[in-house]
Amino acid sequence: MQQSTRTRVAIIFGGVSSEHDVSCLTAGGVVRAIDPQRFEVIGIGITPSGRWVQVDTADLLALNVSEDGLPRLDESRPEAVLIRRDGGGRIATVQGDRLVDARDFDVAFALLHGPFGEDGTIQGLFEMMGIRYVGAGVAASAIGMDKDLMKSELRSAGLPVCPWVTITAVGWRGDQASILRRIEADLTFPVYVKPARGGSSVGISRAATSEDVPGAIEEALRWDPKVIVEEGFVGAREIEVAVLDVRDGTAPRVSLAGEIVMHTDDAFYDYQAKYLPQGQVDLVVPAPVDAALLSRIQKTGARAFRAMGAEGLSRVDLFVTADEEVFVNELNTMPGFTHLSMYPALWEATGLSYADLIAELVDLALSRPTGLR
Ligand SMILES: Nc1ncnc2c1ncn2[C@@H]1O[C@H](COP(=O)(O)OP(=O)(O)O)[C@@H](O)[C@H]1O
Ligand SMILES: [Mg+2]
Repeated sequence: MQQSTRTRVAIIFGGVSSEHDVSCLTAGGVVRAIDPQRFEVIGIGITPSGRWVQVDTADLLALNVSEDGLPRLDESRPEAVLIRRDGGGRIATVQGDRLVDARDFDVAFALLHGPFGEDGTIQGLFEMMGIRYVGAGVAASAIGMDKDLMKSELRSAGLPVCPWVTITAVGWRGDQASILRRIEADLTFPVYVKPARGGSSVGISRAATSEDVPGAIEEALRWDPKVIVEEGFVGAREIEVAVLDVRDGTAPRVSLAGEIVMHTDDAFYDYQAKYLPQGQVDLVVPAPVDAALLSRIQKTGARAFRAMGAEGLSRVDLFVTADEEVFVNELNTMPGFTHLSMYPALWEATGLSYADLIAELVDLALSRPTGLR
C-alpha cells in the first residue's frame, strides 16, 4: 500500500506579492521534481487578489513558461479554506454553504516570496493551525524581510555588516536636513538607498554623491515608509551560499559558493538583471574562491543562519572585498527555488540534487515539533 504511506505535502504558491508569477513557476518545477514514490502533492494556490484555491496535480504540472510568459493563477477557481486538523492540515473547497473536496496533508511547503509569504505572516497562520511547515519560523521570517532589523540582528551577533542609516517617512518629512547630515557624517559614498522591506531590487538606487540622496530616498519611500541608506561596496564580489538545516540544531550545512558577476561597472544586481538576464549578469557556480576563503565564507553563512534563528533553508548573500574581507549583505529565508535558481543550483554543485533537496526540506519540517522551539 504505497499510497497510504506517502507523506502528503501541501505546495502553497502564487500569492499577492509582485513575485506571484515566479512562485507559480517554482511550484511547477517542484511538483515535476518531487519524488512521487515518497510524496503526494496537495496543490494550494493563492490568487493575486489573495483567494485560496485548490489546484490539482495536472494543473500543477502544467505551470511552466509558455508563449504567454510566466504562469499565473486566474481568479475564476472556487474559493478554498484551510481547516485545523490534528497532526497536519486540511484544505476544502467552498460550494454554496458546504465544503467539498476536503484533502488532508501532513506538512506545508510555501513557495512564496516577499510580503505575505516570506515575512512571517503565513508562518503565523501555520503556527495557529498547528501545521508543520518548511523553512524559517515567524520571527526569523519577519526579521529577514526587514533589512534594518536584519542588519541589527546580524551586527549584534558580531557578524560584519556595512554601516547604514534608517529613515522613516515621518522622520524624513520632519527634518530632511538633519537626516542628510547624518548620512554624510556616518557613511562613505556611494551609498545604496533601499526600501527596508523590499525584494527583487525594487525601489533600490545607488547614490554616487549627496545630491543624489534626496531623490533616491523619495523613490524608496514610494515602496515602503521605512528606508535604509547603506554604505556601498566598491569593487567587492557578490558571493552567495546556500544553507540547509540539520536535525539536531548544530552547525547547518553550507554549500559551495556562487557568484553574481555583473558585466558593467557601477551596475548592480537590479530587477532588470534578475529577471531579464540578457547578458548583463552571470551566475557562476561554483565561484572561483580558494579553500581558505571558501571556508570563511561558509562559516559566515552558517553563523548568519543561526544568528537570525533561521530554520530549514536560507540563502546568505555576502560581499567579499578586494582584500578578501567577508560581509553579510542579506539572508533570504525563502530564496528563489526554481531548478535554475541559485539556491538549488548551489546544492546541485555541492552534490545534492533538486529532488533530494526537496525531500530533505520536507523531512526537516516533519522532524521538528510544532509550537515554541
Ligand atoms: N551596500 C552595497 N554595496 C554595493 N552594492 C550593493 C549594496 N547593497 C546592494 N547592492 C547591490 O544591489 C543589489 C540588490 O540589493 P539587495 O540589498 O540584495 O536587495 P534585494 O533584497 O532586493 O535583493 C545587490 O545584489 C547588489 O548588486
Ligand atoms: Mg539581494
